[in-house]
Amino acid sequence: MQDLEGKTALVTGGSRGIGRAVCLELAHRGARVAVNYRSRATEAEATAAAVRDLGMSATTIQADVSRRSEVIAMAKQVEADLGAPDILVNNAGLLHSGELLAYSEDEFDSMWRTNVKGVLYCSEAVAPEMIRRGWGRIVNLASNAAIGTAMAGTTLYAVTKGAVLTLTKRMAFELSPKGITVNAVLPGFTKTDMVMSGKTQDELDRLLENVAERSLVGRTGEPEDIAHLTGFLCSPASGFITGQFMMADGGRQDYLTRV
Ligand SMILES: NC(=O)c1ccc[n+]([C@@H]2O[C@H](COP(=O)([O-])OP(=O)(O)OC[C@H]3O[C@@H](n4cnc5c(N)ncnc54)[C@H](OP(=O)(O)O)[C@@H]3O)[C@@H](O)[C@H]2O)c1
Repeated sequence: MQDLEGKTALVTGGSRGIGRAVCLELAHRGARVAVNYRSRATEAEATAAAVRDLGMSATTIQADVSRRSEVIAMAKQVEADLGAPDILVNNAGLLHSGELLAYSEDEFDSMWRTNVKGVLYCSEAVAPEMIRRGWGRIVNLASNAAIGTAMAGTTLYAVTKGAVLTLTKRMAFELSPKGITVNAVLPGFTKTDMVMSGKTQDELDRLLENVAERSLVGRTGEPEDIAHLTGFLCSPASGFITGQFMMADGGRQDYLTRV
């Protein structure tokens, strides 16, 4: 299915995890892909190589999305390398976990800057050209944490993702009349470094079993599960959908419990 033929996509945090899967999904659909990353150049290059293996052009761009000047430079670089983005996937995200009453102000600030300001900076950098063309797709990666408890120790991360939902709604309100749809994807527990690293094998086994048991489909999420939904929301076929929050979590029903 090449429904994104001729389109350029910018995926923030495309070096690993969900972002990498989104880059491949968009390439599979025929888009040229700009792979943004913050620090892992080798992983970003590997994503770009995988995009090229699918027959599509790719470029890698280092930029910290929490820094406005770097985001502006990134947008210019994408335009020079592949053409101005028709599609923006605001995927880059940061999770610092811990009990609410023991929070670190620095960690909260860094999550706020990346998860919330990053979405704003990237969107404002690419939207004017989308408006000029009268077509655009923006997909923001929020989280099921924004609407429930989901995982213990993630309250302030959830606050940032709640803000992403608000931004999604309000951006849709302002941009949809100009041809740009804006939607949020809310992944449930998805097997990436963000939720898997720093745990012993025993802790990991228990966690995965717990999450799978609470999902109606009986398993945990893979990055591709999230990428498929994101790909659809980037496609022309999704043109009547905007301002929406879409969960991809295998049907978890336990949002007032913890794992
Ligand atoms: N995994 C889950 O269970 C889950 C659930 C709900 C929501 N989400 C959301 O889904 C998105 C992707 O998560 P993931 O699990 O794939 O995360 P991940 O494996 O930790 O990967 C994070 C990605 O974001 C990039 N990144 C982080 N901070 C950045 C910054 N300031 N500027 C530019 N890039 C930055 C990283 O770049 P480097 O590789 O260069 O460090 C990396 O590519 C995030 O928004 C996350 O909050 C994930």
